[in-house]
Amino acid sequence: MSASPHAGNGKITVPDIASRKSRSTSDSIASISKITCLTAYDFPTARLLDDAGVDILLVGDSVGMVVLGYDSTLPVTVDEMLHHVKAVRRGTKHALVVADMPYGSYHASTEESIRTALRFVKEGGAEAVKVEGGERRIELIARLVEAEIPVMGHVGLTPQSVNALGGFKVQGRSEEAAQQVLRDARAVESAGAFSIVLESLPREVAARITAELNIPTIGIGAGPDCDGQVLVINDMLGLTNGHTPKFARRYANLGEIIARAATEFCDDVHSGRFPSDDESYHLSAEARSRFLARQRV
Ligand code: KIV
Repeated sequence: MSASPHAGNGKITVPDIASRKSRSTSDSIASISKITCLTAYDFPTARLLDDAGVDILLVGDSVGMVVLGYDSTLPVTVDEMLHHVKAVRRGTKHALVVADMPYGSYHASTEESIRTALRFVKEGGAEAVKVEGGERRIELIARLVEAEIPVMGHVGLTPQSVNALGGFKVQGRSEEAAQQVLRDARAVESAGAFSIVLESLPREVAARITAELNIPTIGIGAGPDCDGQVLVINDMLGLTNGHTPKFARRYANLGEIIARAATEFCDDVHSGRFPSDDESYHLSAEARSRFLARQRV
């Protein structure tokens, strides 16, 4: 099971992440290591990423697209998210586990949103939740924080707004749009979030937000100046088909490795090379002769 979030046992806590803010003035930037965050959706992957030293495991609603096969994140339900949050929790000892609030779970009423977020903490074992949106989430974020639920914000491209935005597009490209993202980021900070995801923004906009905010920014498609970086694990491992955005650096091609292994397995079964005698269980010599003798009667 997971380690408890007490200092001294290597467990990364919300205050640890909140303190990892690079400042270009007095603190030496080099002394504050950038925050690493990857999405995780299951037990074995969480264990591997946790052992590798990733700071934050985000159970993103991207699970809907990269694991469950939906066209967008919109259909993902709270129960589906909880199922994955629990699995990731079981595989995590050190990293901070953050649960994404799925579309519809915080849009109807603040009370319902708090109840849902509490489920992620109480039933799922998440240590924080993430909500998409800026200025219009001020009250919600403040109420969650008041209920002792740490919140990670998310501005820029917010995939749950895909219909309103007209697609998965880079945000903040015009002066006016960039100002709006800046206002959104300020709003998230002022409401009490401990960190904020900046998704698909021009580097200059993300750099300005990072310089201005006192909470760490975690970028995805927002350039190198953020206080940390997050990637979708299936993108970075080569497990997604079709178009991937240019920022989604591929660190491995597991898709190819899995396909090759499956083809070899089929060939071996068809040709009789699998399983071999060594890969089979055997009766003892005595049981064998008795068993075979009885078969003949
Ligand atoms: O759902 C997700 O994976 C996310 C990340 C892209 C930040 O929100």
